[in-house]
Amino acid sequence: VSVERIEIIATLRERLSRSKKAGERIALVPTMGALHRGHGRLLERARAECDCLVASIFVNPLQFDRQDDLDRYPRTLEADLDMCSAHGVNVTFVPPAAEMYPSKPLCTVAIAELGDHLCGRYRPGHFQGMATVVLKLFDIVQPHVAYFGEKDAQQLAIIRRMVDDFNVPIAIEGVPTVREEDGLAISSRNQRLSADERKLAPSLYRALCMVAGEIAKGATDVQAITRRAAAAIPDQPSLRLEYLDIVDTRTMQPLTTIAGPSLVAGALWVGTTRLIDNVRCLPPGES
Ligand code: PAF
Repeated sequence: VSVERIEIIATLRERLSRSKKAGERIALVPTMGALHRGHGRLLERARAECDCLVASIFVNPLQFDRQDDLDRYPRTLEADLDMCSAHGVNVTFVPPAAEMYPSKPLCTVAIAELGDHLCGRYRPGHFQGMATVVLKLFDIVQPHVAYFGEKDAQQLAIIRRMVDDFNVPIAIEGVPTVREEDGLAISSRNQRLSADERKLAPSLYRALCMVAGEIAKGATDVQAITRRAAAAIPDQPSLRLEYLDIVDTRTMQPLTTIAGPSLVAGALWVGTTRLIDNVRCLPPGES
């Protein structure tokens, strides 16, 4: 069965107005395509919790801070549509760039301190571009609920705050990260890794787990904990740790001392591929 594919905003709105009139609960899973098992988990959750499942596939140029990253972003539309069909997606929205951005947008979503640290510090304009397209998709689809992966923790925190700040009546659901057997978080970017790089890639997750383990045993000095974790990344020419920080789970602000639940997040360059991951940390006695 081939999945319904819509490219034009007006057509999508008309299609979804029929679902809304029929009282259906609409879910949105926004994606940039190159769908993998992580997206599969988002689609499964959404499928189980709605009547009409919409998946958008749009590689959003506005959120790429480097042209080469945009050019190299994997595009696998036919396989993506097959995967949507297999997961019971009712409608795919696959707009051309000119449909989403007929001209350069002059109004975009500005992110204050939520975007200052972690990836926001190293990818100028990324979260502004991401939030702008997500707000556009929310307005185009007007779903009851939208699903996002917890792997992109800062993205999820920004989207949660954006819907609060702008009174957007959409429930936001976070879905846990899906991992390979050796712990590597599943990501579209993993496809770019060579065999040797793939072997080194889980070292980020191991370092993050080391942090969570130390915090669970009572360590509280963030500088000391992160210094030890960074030192655990193998000393290999193809690896470069961009950041490894412990932040407040909601505000994404760096902590100096551990006094409650927190998040350790990192970005590791493996050759020319940038991987990100995060792990929740709980001090002893917290659950
Ligand atoms: O997480 C992603 O794939 C993208 O940032 C999103 C949310 C689809 C917006 O382009």
